[in-house]
Amino acid sequence: MSKSIKLVTVVGARPQFIKAAAVSRAIAAHNEKFPDSILEEKIVHTGQHYDENMSKVFFDELEIPHPDYNLGVGSGSHGEQTGKMLQKIEDVLVRETPDFTIVYGDTNSTLAGALAAAKLHIQIAHVEAGLRSFNRRMPEEINRVLADHVSDFLFCPTEAAVNNLSNEGISNGVYQVGDVMYDSILFYAKKAKNIEQKILKQLGLDSKSYYLATVHRAENTDNIKRLRNIFEGFNNISASECPTLLPLHPRTKKKLSELGLVCPNYVRIIEPVSYLEMIALEQNARAILTDSGGIQKEAYWFKVPCITLREETEWVETVQSGWNVIVGADEQSIINAVSGADKLHAIYQRAIYGNGDASNRICEIIQDSS
Ligand code: UD1
Ligand code: UDP
Repeated sequence: MSKSIKLVTVVGARPQFIKAAAVSRAIAAHNEKFPDSILEEKIVHTGQHYDENMSKVFFDELEIPHPDYNLGVGSGSHGEQTGKMLQKIEDVLVRETPDFTIVYGDTNSTLAGALAAAKLHIQIAHVEAGLRSFNRRMPEEINRVLADHVSDFLFCPTEAAVNNLSNEGISNGVYQVGDVMYDSILFYAKKAKNIEQKILKQLGLDSKSYYLATVHRAENTDNIKRLRNIFEGFNNISASECPTLLPLHPRTKKKLSELGLVCPNYVRIIEPVSYLEMIALEQNARAILTDSGGIQKEAYWFKVPCITLREETEWVETVQSGWNVIVGADEQSIINAVSGADKLHAIYQRAIYGNGDASNRICEIIQDSS
């Protein structure tokens, strides 16, 4: 007898499109392999990210199925944004009555999806469960702790994540499957090779002759001293023969203009780029400076030295391996880390983020659960 399990996937922000792309592709492969045991996926886009280069470009390039619902929530304060999402996701869940709601990572879309499902007694699968910075001032830390505590299936990327959950008394439904972003990298890195020369030429850059930077964390953008220090650091490390390329997140763009901060000489600001362009640029960078979660791991996978503009990281393995140094927002520490980047020696353990089959394992576990 054929059976079908209905899944509602809730996404809303750039890194979630990249994570969900891997799982949606695994769902399609699963359905082809097991036609009598279908995983039926409905995709809900909350509208948290809405600029074309923060949203549509990922659906197109990564061939993610078109969202079944776009809730159009947009930007707002945490309460306003999360509250609007909660209400609208609830309407969708009541209408669709899924067996599972799948949420990703730690954004406001994650929290709203998890909370809406929990109140309706719909099983929740949290992909990228168990990550902790132990810094409750980060909005993401609140989101991930709350999402984990209402989830039924906790798909952890690492052993450290499993241990974090265990320390909070969560052991049921915990699966160390690996990191779905690693699945994405393995799949898309080959495609990125095809556009590598084009994007470097377009930007007038030579391989290993530029630094690649991203900044978007609230702790950096919402603190003028930190933001200024970071830009001073960028200014100091950059030179005409080795500029810093900064695909600028819209949050940071807005802050820079509000604060009247002028971009220093050899820091080249560009619009956010597509995923394939980004991973091509990462692989060819001399070093990466970032406060992004996903980009720290991508630097590790591509063996590009990473300098993290934060006070701590959830991705502790990248630091323990020797590829990532935490420098905060201190100008001199940024300069020192860049000058020492070529000397970083890493103990390289690829398997710490799984074997690239996290998405398939998630499908299998969901399938076997009913
Ligand atoms: C969000 C997540 C963060 C994640 C990041 C990925 C939360 C609390 N934060 O941060 O964890 O790392 O996404 O990129 O969920 N904006 C635009 N266009 C857009 C989207 C945003 O102009 O398409 C601007 C708006 O001014 C908005 C600001 O960026 O107010 C911040 O956007 P928001 O989604 O609230 O948070 P992010 O900083 O993007
Ligand atoms: N990314 C991208 N284009 C950009 C900047 C980032 O495709 O201009 C990708 C990046 O390669 C990574 C993901 O977006 O896969 C990380 O998202 P972000 O830094 O916005 O969020 P975080 O991971 O910090 O939550």
